Amino acid sequence: MGRIGLADLFGPLSPQAFLDQHWRQPTPCVGICAPHVLSDIVAIPTLRSCQALLDCFPRDVMLLGPDRFRAWVSPRAAPRFLERGYNLYFTGVEAAAPQAKALFADVAAELGVLPWHLSLEAFAGSKGGVSSRHYDNDINIQILLSGEKEWRIEPNATIQNPLFSNHPWADAAGNAQGFVEEILGTGAPFALDFNPAATQRFRTQAGTAFFVPLGFWHETVSFSDTWCLSLQVKTPTLADALSLALRDRLHRRPDFRRRLGVSYAGQSTTADPSAAERYAQLQAEAIDAVREMSLAEVTLATQDGMYRWRPEAGQRSIQVVDGAACLVAPPALDEPLEFDEALGAPLEKLVALKQPFFWRDAVGLATALPVESFMNFLEDLVRLGLLERGTYVRGGPEVFRPETT
Ligand SMILES: [Fe+2]
Repeated sequence: MGRIGLADLFGPLSPQAFLDQHWRQPTPCVGICAPHVLSDIVAIPTLRSCQALLDCFPRDVMLLGPDRFRAWVSPRAAPRFLERGYNLYFTGVEAAAPQAKALFADVAAELGVLPWHLSLEAFAGSKGGVSSRHYDNDINIQILLSGEKEWRIEPNATIQNPLFSNHPWADAAGNAQGFVEEILGTGAPFALDFNPAATQRFRTQAGTAFFVPLGFWHETVSFSDTWCLSLQVKTPTLADALSLALRDRLHRRPDFRRRLGVSYAGQSTTADPSAAERYAQLQAEAIDAVREMSLAEVTLATQDGMYRWRPEAGQRSIQVVDGAACLVAPPALDEPLEFDEALGAPLEKLVALKQPFFWRDAVGLATALPVESFMNFLEDLVRLGLLERGTYVRGGPEVFRPETT
């Protein structure tokens, strides 16, 4: 299995140049893919062609057409619509092509996003097929595997960093409708068509990657049959991450794990005059917690990563060896592992754990240490074969799914 990184997608730009000129200063661009990109992708049997993906796709696909046309259709019926000029839109393609997700692990790392914030979509079009003007609440990198298409793309003057996608339509009076975040908008006109003065056109061929920044208006027209794999990058907002990090901090205290309406906020101040006073005290503690949170902690809060110990609980312990506190875990660990004194208390609790544990909860044990240094220590334990990295699985028979890579 090959590997695809930014340098393979956005030639002749270096990854750093792409990040500086396009990713961080959002502007669209076309990259020339390295020759192996297309061959690596189409070597995956389910991505060889639109029909190959339709043959195994487990759910309906979306039809895209002019004038905001959208409908769902079964994979079996989809080819007939493709012939009639509709575009087909597949989401969650990694379920049908898990190998493809692994291909792009380097892209995720280079963009600084977590693997599960990058998902795969596919688009198929026939000559003249249109995906009409809209903007998305995610970032896309479209790799054209075959055919030729034209993009029109325009910066979004009506809202910065939209939380919702927007595919506008005209009401009976011809007014643009569909902007559900108008209250957050800039007040600039919300139009049904492109502003020619601000719109760029790009004609893309097979073997190119097209970068669609967050929120940019765009529309495509296929000049021939087209087949395209798209990387969708959708990360939490800073507000999401900050809220999650605060939640994690507060949940370390039973007082903040109380249930609303059962034992705390549901109490009226007349029924319990002390409730307001206690709330004010907890609120002040929450404000202090926000002040202490680093960006690393905020970022970590968005992750569902877990660790679990490889040696059984009885095979690991903290012992003093030659006067130094050490982690001892024979036979997994050949020699006692001496560690920094500051790690003693958190490690004492960690080695006693029998169940998988979240990374974000683990750092809560080591509040005296920078998040990065504690996570680096846990990663050292992964490299030593003592911890296993994985993710939380909701609702399955097992809560822990080991990482495969
Ligand atoms: Fe789009």
